[in-house]
Amino acid sequence: MSSELIHRTQTRESSHRTSYSPPASSTPQKSINRIGYMLRDRLPFLLVGVALATLFFHVLPSRSILATARDSPLETQLTLPTRRVLMEGPIEKKGRAPVGVKGRKPKRILVTGGAGFVGSHLVDRLMERGDSVIVVDNFFTGRKENVLHHMGNPNFELIRHDVVEPILLEVDQIYHLACPASPVHYKFNPVKTIISFIVHDGLDCLKLESLIPMWFLEHKTNVVGTLNMLGLAKRVGARFLLTSTSEVYGDPLQHPQSETYWGNVNPIGVRSCYDEGKRTAETLAMDYHRGAGIEVRIARIFNTYGPRMCIDDGRVVSNFVAQALRKEPLTVYGDGKQTRSFQYVSDLVEGLMRLMEGDHVGPFNLGNPGEFTMLELAQVVQETIDPNAKIEFRPNTEDDPHKRKPDISKAKELLGWQPSVSLRDGLPLMVSDFRQRLFADAKLNAGKSVA
Ligand SMILES: NC(=O)c1ccc[n+]([C@@H]2O[C@H](COP(=O)([O-])OP(=O)(O)OC[C@H]3O[C@@H](n4cnc5c(N)ncnc54)[C@H](O)[C@@H]3O)[C@@H](O)[C@H]2O)c1
Repeated sequence: MSSELIHRTQTRESSHRTSYSPPASSTPQKSINRIGYMLRDRLPFLLVGVALATLFFHVLPSRSILATARDSPLETQLTLPTRRVLMEGPIEKKGRAPVGVKGRKPKRILVTGGAGFVGSHLVDRLMERGDSVIVVDNFFTGRKENVLHHMGNPNFELIRHDVVEPILLEVDQIYHLACPASPVHYKFNPVKTIISFIVHDGLDCLKLESLIPMWFLEHKTNVVGTLNMLGLAKRVGARFLLTSTSEVYGDPLQHPQSETYWGNVNPIGVRSCYDEGKRTAETLAMDYHRGAGIEVRIARIFNTYGPRMCIDDGRVVSNFVAQALRKEPLTVYGDGKQTRSFQYVSDLVEGLMRLMEGDHVGPFNLGNPGEFTMLELAQVVQETIDPNAKIEFRPNTEDDPHKRKPDISKAKELLGWQPSVSLRDGLPLMVSDFRQRLFADAKLNAGKSVA
């Protein structure tokens, strides 16, 4: 059997050899044989070859772009493993005007912490403007519900990711908001250096669960997270905006606070993980700007309120509103004479966008200069929600600043920005959102029992 096979192969080979190597004096009959041979034996191979070549040249360009990006020396700068996500939605198309904005090219924008309170409002505005937005959030204090209305829009992507890990995204701008921002996070036992791990709990954003060193998380997000996002900005040539805070002024000795004031921060207090974390983040941003030529923008945000704030997160406006709606007494810490200024979220978002699009690095104070004592705020909440709401005094918290009021002349002059929503106009908008979130479940259950 095997010898027969060998024999047949040898026969075929010798016949092929004859056809391939015709003698110099070939006859017409031999030419006809050759054409017949070509059509019969070689045509299928030719067709397969053409098909393979078409496939190869069609796929090659995209593969070679990826290979170039992978081999880039910039990529090798990161020592940590990098999560790579390629934009699925439409990317910037040269010459195409965005929806609603004539002549402006849409941008690819990363919003870290975009599922949070401020971030989700910012995302709404960017999407409205016609940009492509990627939200990176680990849902530590943010909620998917805040951006749910953008799901399915090809210009929107939501990525669950912790910014303390590197990530590679091709974007033009980075708004860096990811950071646990409420006081609940930095009220911890300084001796044991442990406090609760906070998870999303459906209605309330925060739930105290397992024990981890909170100062570590807070600091790690501010420092390592900011470092990662600055590294990304450097790598892809994006402009970077840091959302810093009025807390960098600590318990201020200057009033109102202007950007030239260096602050009065307790470096070893219970709030210092947040305050010093943000101060370090500002330092890193400026170092990347000076040292690596990164385009950075720094916003120092003063107390902001509005719909989608976490309920029960320990911030004074959300505390008062939730308490009044639940018919609980409003808790005032200390004598209630400490002052704060309260900015409505849409004003802040306008300021952040102007800062990002403008030519100035900052830092810029973004806040409402209208100054209220805690007792005055409690009265506005009473007027808006329940005139009979009681006020309960509690001992003040450690390192609570006595006064806070932004000097916004720099933002007025260089960004042409100033807040336009007063506390009395903004508060009812927040109240209806809180009322809906607090009582939606109760109504739903009542409806079910009636049915
Ligand atoms: N709201 C204010 O009054 C105020 C005042 C000053 C500064 N800021 C700053 O503005 C930014 C937004 O604040 P906010 O009020 O919207 O707070 P928020 O808690 O509602 O939003 C923060 C978001 O960041 C996310 N996040 C936290 N750690 C993360 C991590 N390691 N990786 C990925 N995502 C992470 C959270 O899940 C959340 O969605 C923060 O940087 C905060 O410090 C806010």
